[in-house]
Amino acid sequence: MNKVTVIGAGNVGATVANVLAHKDFLSEVIVLDIKEGTAEGKSLDSWQQAPIDYYSTRIKGVTNDYAATAGSDVVVITSGLPRKPGMSRDDLISVNAGIVKSVTENVLAHSPDAILIIVSNPLDVMCYCAYLTAKVDSRRVFGMAGILDTARYRAFLAEALDVSPKDIQALLLGGHGDTMVPLPRYTTVSGIPVTDMIEEEKLNAIVERTKKGGGEIVNLLGTSAWYAPGAAAAQMVESIIKDEKRIFPCCVMLNGEYGMNNIYLGVPVKLGRQGINEIIELNLNEEEKQLLHDSAKAVREVMDVLDNMNLF
Ligand code: NAI
Ligand code: 2OP
Repeated sequence: MNKVTVIGAGNVGATVANVLAHKDFLSEVIVLDIKEGTAEGKSLDSWQQAPIDYYSTRIKGVTNDYAATAGSDVVVITSGLPRKPGMSRDDLISVNAGIVKSVTENVLAHSPDAILIIVSNPLDVMCYCAYLTAKVDSRRVFGMAGILDTARYRAFLAEALDVSPKDIQALLLGGHGDTMVPLPRYTTVSGIPVTDMIEEEKLNAIVERTKKGGGEIVNLLGTSAWYAPGAAAAQMVESIIKDEKRIFPCCVMLNGEYGMNNIYLGVPVKLGRQGINEIIELNLNEEEKQLLHDSAKAVREVMDVLDNMNLF
């Protein structure tokens, strides 16, 4: 009898709920939005898809009714503004920090033991904002970005190598921004080092395209992506509820790992029923360490913007 709530019934939130329903391992998915009728309408549409696609997960939408979310095991927070062309994820902070703070308070008032997965941007700092609000163990508050960013990297590699995306395994570190750090040294094609299969120049171009992968879609659509982000957040929920202990890059609070403290940053973790079961420390070379520190510096600049908002 597992229950998951998705806050925000926009492009990403509705997709998370729909993918979760299709996976059919939850008894109930509640979708909550502040816009009257949006969560109800999209959830009704998803529920009417159940007889066609054969799932039993009951999906229900509500308008700002947090009582309906009570007793959730996991809550995915997607509420907030998405990017428009010309905006960076960081431009969103002035609106989204207030939304993430109030949503986190409301969610925990009704589901005090819930694990929180943050999706709203700017991701790393919105995780920090939720953590400061929640005042719970940081292993219960973390963010989705790395699965999406590695998925983009894997998809580009699959296309370049003309192989199935299923066979590309990869890791990526750092903030969810243009300073993210894809790791060719930890990228394989069915166990074969990717560097044995692609020229350096092509690989470098794919790394650069990955870093700007979110912006590429914003420029095409006028808003940000939702299919891959929604599927990525649903994959995290699945690993938690089923206690699968899968290893994914997630945005987590570092308490000494990678030589850093008091910062949310993307690193590989083991995800299970407690949330973050373990943070995995890679044996990085000097160049990778430097890139990770550069990325942390960029995240700290946005943390300063949050500090200056005096929300805490
Ligand atoms: P959207 O505009 O389609 O949906 C956002 C929804 O949040 C809207 O329906 C809105 O009514 C709702 N909302 C706003 N304030 C709320 C509140 N206080 N309580 C409940 N609902 C509220 O936006 P989209 O495309 O779904 O993106 C959502 C967020 O996710 C954005 O901040 C976007 O930048 C971020 N994002 C993050 C990704 C990641 O990798 N971490 C990937 C894609 C998007
Ligand atoms: C993305 O990477 C904008 O964070 C969003 O698609």
